[in-house]
Amino acid sequence: MSKLTILLYPDKRLHTVATPVLRVNDEIRNLIKDMGDTMYGAPGVGLAATQVDVHQRIIVIDTSPARDNLRVFINPEIVEANGVADCEEGCLSVPGIYEKTQRAQHVRVRALDATGATFEHEADGLEAVCIQHEMDHLEGKVFVERLSRMKQQRILAKLKKRQRDTE
Ligand code: NI
Repeated sequence: MSKLTILLYPDKRLHTVATPVLRVNDEIRNLIKDMGDTMYGAPGVGLAATQVDVHQRIIVIDTSPARDNLRVFINPEIVEANGVADCEEGCLSVPGIYEKTQRAQHVRVRALDATGATFEHEADGLEAVCIQHEMDHLEGKVFVERLSRMKQQRILAKLKKRQRDTE
């Protein structure tokens, strides 16, 4: 089991746009395993490769109550989205910050699995929000950047203060 280091907002590397995975090989499968370990260990419900400074299009999520249902999406694409989910979002790269955002309530995602096969998955509610959140990371976007400028400034100030306090 190996845990990877999670980049913390406002680290500029979180703004990197990830590139598609060309071949799902053992290297990718090892990365997925480490991403799972990192996500469960944090603990969190989702993690994008971007957050561990690997800029390839891979996300892992597990929103199951028992935390025994790891879902892997390689090169994910949203092929259908509808409804509006009002939810409170958090992020392992922005620890301790939770803010209301708006996302689609329902999504259908097409992706490759860990064997390289194409599959489609339908998700609702928390799982749908989580998929959209992690896919934003692959575009170099952190959820706080969807908030108003004022809120973003407040969050940055809070994170800076916290950093000072722990030094
Ligand atoms: Ni996140």
